[in-house]
Amino acid sequence: MNTPGTLAALDVHLTEADADAALRADARTGLTSTPKVLRPQWLYDARGSELFEQITALPEYYPFTAERDALALGAEDIARLTGADTFVELGSGSSTKTTLLLDALSRTGNLRHYIPVDVSASALEEAVPGLVADYPDLDVHGVVGDFIADLRSVPKVGSRLVVLLGGTIGNFEPDDRRRFLEALSETLDPGEHFLVGTDLIKDEETLVAAYDDAAGVTAEFELNALTVLNRVLGADFDVDGFSYAAVWVPQASRIEMRVRARRPMTVQVPALDLTVEFAAGEEMRTEISTKFTREGVAAELDTAGFDVAHWVTDPGARFGLTLARRR
Ligand code: AVJ
Repeated sequence: MNTPGTLAALDVHLTEADADAALRADARTGLTSTPKVLRPQWLYDARGSELFEQITALPEYYPFTAERDALALGAEDIARLTGADTFVELGSGSSTKTTLLLDALSRTGNLRHYIPVDVSASALEEAVPGLVADYPDLDVHGVVGDFIADLRSVPKVGSRLVVLLGGTIGNFEPDDRRRFLEALSETLDPGEHFLVGTDLIKDEETLVAAYDDAAGVTAEFELNALTVLNRVLGADFDVDGFSYAAVWVPQASRIEMRVRARRPMTVQVPALDLTVEFAAGEEMRTEISTKFTREGVAAELDTAGFDVAHWVTDPGARFGLTLARRR
């Protein structure tokens, strides 16, 4: 830990080479499976991060504002109920959402440590100095790590509140979600807390519009994964040869983001020594966004060893925050 007020060091548990190797392995598996599938990590190069920023400002993309509204309503209660001295933010940012929680936790007088954990060292290098300046009494300690694979990178200090915002948990497959919650539960001590943001099931029209906006920003964001594959793996995807579709899959309670080959295509992926065939109309999933109910979230948390301590939504009940306490 650092002296409060000094520039925090970054703990690196994940090197760029590790991340690279994991992404390559994922591409090989995903491009050779039926149906084809990619991990959402392929979406977030510099251009992808920029496009995601634009998504959060789209009129159709309600989850961003809805979660912020829920946090504004709930931060005070959440801070009081946890009494945490350590705030661990998984997939952290420097957003106003973080600030809402940091401020509420600071006001309790308990907060000492803020530990943003992110797979991206550059994201942390950008966010941490500002936070150090804004919260001079706080020990800010960034951790570069893949919090899904490596929860051990979360340092243990005192009584912790671990948060996963943005509906990020909706990106996980059900098995990955269960494993993540179990691993988190094993890492935490009884009485420590986990706050998770989940987008809620609603009418299909609203859901699909949020992931297939009129301006086409989401389409560009999802198709950017192909550009990233071209750059990183030397692939020769003809990006214009693909269209985009957001499909609500009610059985899985999720929106699936898919890119669709407009015509038959043969794609070379030199870095993987791989040739990939696409039939006309064939789809490849680039991301999933699972939607939840209050009861569903509570049941999954219960299975993993958590009790629900608090639940709050935005005034429109579009997005939910669940505060869970480790049993
Ligand atoms: C960052 C995973 C929360 O699922 O709403 C938004 C990603 N992709 N629009 C979501 C996303 C396209 C987003 N999460």
